[in-house]
Amino acid sequence: MDISSLDHPVIQFEADRWDAEFSKEIQEKAIESLENGSVLFFPRLNFSLLPEETKFLEPSWVSGAKNISYDPRNASLKGAEGKTEDLKLLSGMLKRYAQKTKEFLHLLFPFYGSSLRIARTSFRPVEISGRPTSPRKDDTRLHVDAFPSSPTGGERILRVFSNINPSGKPRSWRIGEPFPQYLKHLLPQLESPTPGKRFLLYVLGITKGYRSLYDHFMLELHDKGKLDLQYQKNSPQVAFDFPAGSTWIVFTDQVLHAVDKGQFLLEQTFHIKIEALKHPEKSPLKLLEAALNKKLVSV
Ligand code: SIN
Ligand code: FE
Repeated sequence: MDISSLDHPVIQFEADRWDAEFSKEIQEKAIESLENGSVLFFPRLNFSLLPEETKFLEPSWVSGAKNISYDPRNASLKGAEGKTEDLKLLSGMLKRYAQKTKEFLHLLFPFYGSSLRIARTSFRPVEISGRPTSPRKDDTRLHVDAFPSSPTGGERILRVFSNINPSGKPRSWRIGEPFPQYLKHLLPQLESPTPGKRFLLYVLGITKGYRSLYDHFMLELHDKGKLDLQYQKNSPQVAFDFPAGSTWIVFTDQVLHAVDKGQFLLEQTFHIKIEALKHPEKSPLKLLEAALNKKLVSV
């Protein structure tokens, strides 16, 4: 399908530096496109590794997880294996990515100001294609992001991705139909939570915090969408290759996405409260609340 036939295409921007200056017009276009469910694509915004960091372009640094994860809030590194000095160097690389992406988002979206809160940084050095996984964890199936152990309580998931593949290979995605259509398709399948279950998950420490009704229904959308093979095959979708050396920014809780192939990706997550958005009415929370006719997070 031609990308222009979906009303949330990938929108291209010219910035090629992490400390770029943006005009008011570009900032306006960026926030409107983002909240509307577009992917903001920066073909020339490259994250360069230092010479001593290029050795991390190897899947063998990953241990016991599918990705390496860094938390810039407490400088902790998870899912990586190696000598202490190497892990320190790797942490430094991820910390720099966290700082650059944060600075960039502040320059591009001054409207969000301090509402933009930084979360985890992820380094994905494992080839996607052919990677064994379970249906619910299979990111080669179209989905919106929702995580079983990490409820957001209604906050948005904003992610910056940079393809740092050293041999010029793209990150191949597919992007699905807009959120309202996805919701409309799955609405009849959505089930309410089992009484007591979310409380149990919380007290047993299985979820980090209490899973709100919003988080429950986002997980329903995520899981039922991935398990709906007819939908996976027949729903409107476009393939898009993000080239090596490029960066893209997207609300992954809103934009249906799937990754088919690619290796060596950096990703930085940010959260933002619904009230800090320019158009809260376009958020998954407000659309779900309208569709189900009830409040899904307690205020
Ligand atoms: C995803 O968020 O589903 C995966 C994106 C990627 O690793 O390219
Ligand atoms: Fe995802």
